Amino acid sequence: MARLACGIDIGGSGVKAALVNLDTGEFSTDHIRIETPRPATPDAIAHVCRQLLEGLNVGPEIPVGIAFPAPVINGVIRFMANLDDSWVGIDVNELMMRHLGRPVFPLNDADAAGLAEAVYGAARGIPGVVIVTTQGTGIGSAIILDGVLVPNSELGHLEIDGYDAEKRASAGQKTLQGLDWQQWAERLQRYYSHVEMLFSPDLFVVGGGVSQNHEKFMPLLDLKTPMVPALLLNTAGIVGAAHWAATHAAR
Ligand code: BGC
Repeated sequence: MARLACGIDIGGSGVKAALVNLDTGEFSTDHIRIETPRPATPDAIAHVCRQLLEGLNVGPEIPVGIAFPAPVINGVIRFMANLDDSWVGIDVNELMMRHLGRPVFPLNDADAAGLAEAVYGAARGIPGVVIVTTQGTGIGSAIILDGVLVPNSELGHLEIDGYDAEKRASAGQKTLQGLDWQQWAERLQRYYSHVEMLFSPDLFVVGGGVSQNHEKFMPLLDLKTPMVPALLLNTAGIVGAAHWAATHAAR
């Protein structure tokens, strides 16, 4: 029997969940998506998580991982850039225990995506330092060292030229500001060459929906570090959260 865990990925527009086959990193069921409630308060999101677990029929023996668009330090949200401010200081375990009546394993969404790429995707088996960035409303980052995650890196909030980097160089800003590929690539160049200077990584992996169009912007970048698109695309957050839950439940 396949080893299973459940992953939930909380995003700005949708909250998605699926059961994941941990041997393959693939969904073992169809995923379920519920629109992100407005305002996206802790209680409202926890209620959605409950609906998702019920919808997937997740039994108490199946570990549940939840990916948040925020740093998660010992289960506590420290700041929240793109959801609701009332998350600051929330202890996720306490919140979910109240709503779901079970423990969960929370982590940052980009860390989840990075883990998924390290275990099943584009960063699999790569030695050294891999930086996975997720391009969406914000820029998420995961630092992977020899396959092990260094959590909560938050490289989307580097201050570059006086700006919060994700307010200039995220895929969300490309859309909002109507930038063409060339204009966006100039911002990406500034961003990734700065990250490259700070960390000298061995590989960049770029995820998020826009990575499907990697041939439109990656060839425009001039970096010393090789850069490849993510392999898991929009399943990465769920798969990484499920993997995280399974490894932590086993401890
Ligand atoms: C948040 C990160 C998150 C990223 C992608 C950023 O604004 O601070 O924690 O990983 O957006 O959702």
